Amino acid sequence: MGIETIMDMLEKELDIKRFQHSVNVMEVSQSLAEVYGADIEKARLAGILHDCAKNYKGDEARDYVEKIGYKADEIELLQPKLLHGIIGEHLARHIYGVTDEEVLGAIRWHTTGRAGMNLLEKIIYVADYIEPLRYFEGIEEMRKAAYEDLDRCIVLCSESTIKFVLNKGALLHSRTVETRNHSIMLIKERNEKSI
Ligand SMILES: [Fe+2]
Ligand SMILES: [Fe+2]
Repeated sequence: MGIETIMDMLEKELDIKRFQHSVNVMEVSQSLAEVYGADIEKARLAGILHDCAKNYKGDEARDYVEKIGYKADEIELLQPKLLHGIIGEHLARHIYGVTDEEVLGAIRWHTTGRAGMNLLEKIIYVADYIEPLRYFEGIEEMRKAAYEDLDRCIVLCSESTIKFVLNKGALLHSRTVETRNHSIMLIKERNEKSI
């Protein structure tokens, strides 16, 4: 199905704020795709759909992943909101008719990121943080970094999440830490090569 149809469906599915966030992520993803040479249609599709499972919470989320055979880890089971990327990928495939594996992967991993993200995954991860409706400490630096160095922006985004989670006293998912560490290693490797 076309992206217009998907947008109509999402507008009914999500609350107005979440839908506006999704439209913003779609637009920021497009502009990042233009800067970094990624596929623009894929970036728009993954951007608009990334939070399509945001309404799945608590037992509904836990039951959904069990039904599709995803083995949630302890932290995901205790904080089932973390599962909306996994569920989102499944909905994108089976409800919204997405077949492109890159788009599906970008939806799947946007919540925590992961070590070794591909370009589209990085773009969606970053766009989710810096879209215009977001406001928190350090956002201007993140917005600037997003267009200069995606990996450095990912370090800033994941560190911001880690600080937020620590301040709240909540459970921190190890994938967020892996996302940060991997991006730092990528930058280090790059710098060593350029010497
Ligand atoms: Fe999300
Ligand atoms: Fe989001």
